Amino acid sequence: MITLSVIKADIGGYVGHSSSHPDILAKAEEDLAKAQREGLLIDFHVTRCGDDLQLIMTHELGENNTRIHQLAWDTFVAGTELARQLGLYGAGQDLLADAFSGNVKAMGPGVAEMMFEQRTSEPVVIFMADKTSSGAWNMPLYKMFADPFNTIGLVIAPNMHEGFSFEVHDIKDSKKVMFSTPEEIYDMLVFIGAPSRYVVKSVRHRTTGNIGAVSSTQKLALIAGRYVGKDDPVCIVRCQGEFPAVGEVLEPFSHPNLVEGWMRGSHYGPLMPVALRDSNPSRFDGPPRVIAAGFQISKGKLVGPRDMFDDPGFDEARRQANIAGEYMRRHGPFEPHRLPLDEMEYTTMPGVMKKLQGRFTNLD
Ligand code: 13P
Ligand code: 13P
Ligand code: MG
Ligand code: MG
Repeated sequence: MITLSVIKADIGGYVGHSSSHPDILAKAEEDLAKAQREGLLIDFHVTRCGDDLQLIMTHELGENNTRIHQLAWDTFVAGTELARQLGLYGAGQDLLADAFSGNVKAMGPGVAEMMFEQRTSEPVVIFMADKTSSGAWNMPLYKMFADPFNTIGLVIAPNMHEGFSFEVHDIKDSKKVMFSTPEEIYDMLVFIGAPSRYVVKSVRHRTTGNIGAVSSTQKLALIAGRYVGKDDPVCIVRCQGEFPAVGEVLEPFSHPNLVEGWMRGSHYGPLMPVALRDSNPSRFDGPPRVIAAGFQISKGKLVGPRDMFDDPGFDEARRQANIAGEYMRRHGPFEPHRLPLDEMEYTTMPGVMKKLQGRFTNLD
C-alpha cells in the first residue's frame, strides 16, 4: 500500500495574495528532498496554486501519520521564516497554531490523503484551487462520479455501472453521512448543493470499496473564528479502470461554476480552470482558479506532472469565466456577488452591527 498526501498552506503571497515567490518553492523543495534522502518519503513534488504552497508526497506510513504531518508543518514554518525575510504578504497566513501537535488538520493547512494498492498503471489528477473554499469540489465530484451526462463510463463501462458511495461532511456540526449513488442522488443533492456547509470528503467504488477521490475540507474561518484567508482546497482523484477516465475527471471544469471566495474571500465568482503558469489571481484578487496536475504513479514515484488544463479545449471555459466574472463584478458590494450574511460573520459585519446597535429602533 502507498499513501499519497497533499498538504498545503498559504505561507505568504507575492505580490499581495496573487502568487508565490520562487525562493519559497525552492526552499520547500530542499526540505522535502532531505526527507526523501532520509527515507521518509518515496517521492515528492512541490508546486503552488496562486499564493498556496502545495506539498505532494508519496510514502508508506498511511494517512494522518505524525512524521509526515510534522514534515509538512516544519516545511511551512521554515518557509514562513523565509517569507518574512522577503517581506511577503501575509507570511505564515495559514499557520494558525503556535506549535505542532501531532496532526496539521486543525492547525490551518489543508490536507487530502489517500492510501491504496497501486495498480499496474495508476493515473492520478490532483486539483488545487486558489481564492475559494472547501466545498468547491462538490459539483465537480458529483459530475465525475454520479452524472452520466459528464461521465459516460457510468453508463457503458461494466466496472463503473454499479456506482459510487460519497462521504459527506457537515463541517459546521462535525458530522458525516454516506450516500450511495445513483439511487440516493436526490437525497445527496439536498446537502451537497449547499457547499458552504456540506462538503464531499471522499468517494469510493461501490463494489470494490476502493478509494476514488479525497478532498481537503479544512475551513480556516471555523478554525480561527474570523476571516484569515480562504481555504483554497485540494482534491485527489484516481482515474481510469473502475474510476472515471482522465477526460471524464477533467470535464466538469469545462463549466466554470460559481464558488465562494475571490476578493477578501467574501464573493461568489466563477472557478476558472488554468495552466499552472496562469494561476496568479490578480483581477479583484481573482477570479478563483483551479489547476490540475496529472501524474502516473509508478512504484510510489510521481511520474509527472502534466499540466492538464494547459489545453485549448478549456479556452471556452476560461472565456465564459471572464464573462460570468464581469457580470458578477458589476454587482459590486451587493449580493449575490457578495456572500450572504451568515458568511459575513467572519468579517467586519459583527463590528458594524455592534457600532450601530443603539441606532436601530422598532418599526411602528
Ligand atoms: P489587508 O491585510 O491589507 O487588509 O488585506 C486584506 C486581505 O487581502 C484579506 O486577506
Ligand atoms: P488567500 O486565501 O488566497 O490568501 O486570499 C485571501 C484574500 O483575501 C484575497 O483577497
Ligand atoms: Mg494569501
Ligand atoms: Mg490562496
